[in-house]
Amino acid sequence: MGFFTFVPLAMKHSNPIGLFDSGIGGTSIWKEINMLLPNESTIYLADSKNAPYGKRSKQDIINLSIKNTDLLLSKGCKVIVLACNTATTNAISYLRKTYKDIPFIGIEPAIKPAALKTITQNIGILATQGTLSSELFYKTLENISKDITIHEQNGDGLVELIESGLIDSKETFALLSKYLKPMLKKNIDCLVLGCTHYPYLIPQIKTIVGDDVTLIDSGLAVAKQLERVLITHNLKNQHNINVQHQFYCNSDIAVLKRLVNPQSHIQIDALDF
Ligand code: DGL
Repeated sequence: MGFFTFVPLAMKHSNPIGLFDSGIGGTSIWKEINMLLPNESTIYLADSKNAPYGKRSKQDIINLSIKNTDLLLSKGCKVIVLACNTATTNAISYLRKTYKDIPFIGIEPAIKPAALKTITQNIGILATQGTLSSELFYKTLENISKDITIHEQNGDGLVELIESGLIDSKETFALLSKYLKPMLKKNIDCLVLGCTHYPYLIPQIKTIVGDDVTLIDSGLAVAKQLERVLITHNLKNQHNINVQHQFYCNSDIAVLKRLVNPQSHIQIDALDF
């Protein structure tokens, strides 16, 4: 595998931040990062050709994460954001051990903030099978008070619907209802969105769960953690000059274009990777 390939030695503040996801979902994280850190250029890889990661083996997810990391590093990225819960929970520890000089920022389901917020002591989590079955997720659960019940639901099929652009469709609403209604019967008052694709479903989810259930995702927390890491490594860009955002997708780019408005400083291109 490719971890002996090019790793830049001296990173500059103006080098881009690299992000990857199994597809377009991680753009929800990119939006938070872009809002908090407007001076930073970014390169985003949507590995839609290989989506969903959530049904793949751990080794497969590691191999795909290496491929994405190598490409981002070859383009001079100064840090790598795994804008994907499934890649984080399965591959981030391997990446950190392998690429020792590169800071990696990951995203995990926000179970801890939900545990601090719940009053009914019942939390719902919607995530991929790959995330729910990962060791990292299991360890997170171990640290949650035994008084709290976590109701897990695998969001099987949702990533595929979002990737094919069926975000507002009847099919998506029906699948969400099937997954969420049993949780409501369990008296959840917090619902953790454990996949970066799911923030795009928030309007439908709110219609189903109502105002008494708080939706919790990790997007802003990841952006803040990224800022801390950039400051610690003296890599935060202080100047708003030539900021560019490049998106690459290895499948149809139409849905990506709908979610991220191409402009002069935001380019969206097809790329086989
Ligand atoms: N956005 C990915 C995540 O956060 C989706 C995973 C998948 O492709 O199954 O988990």
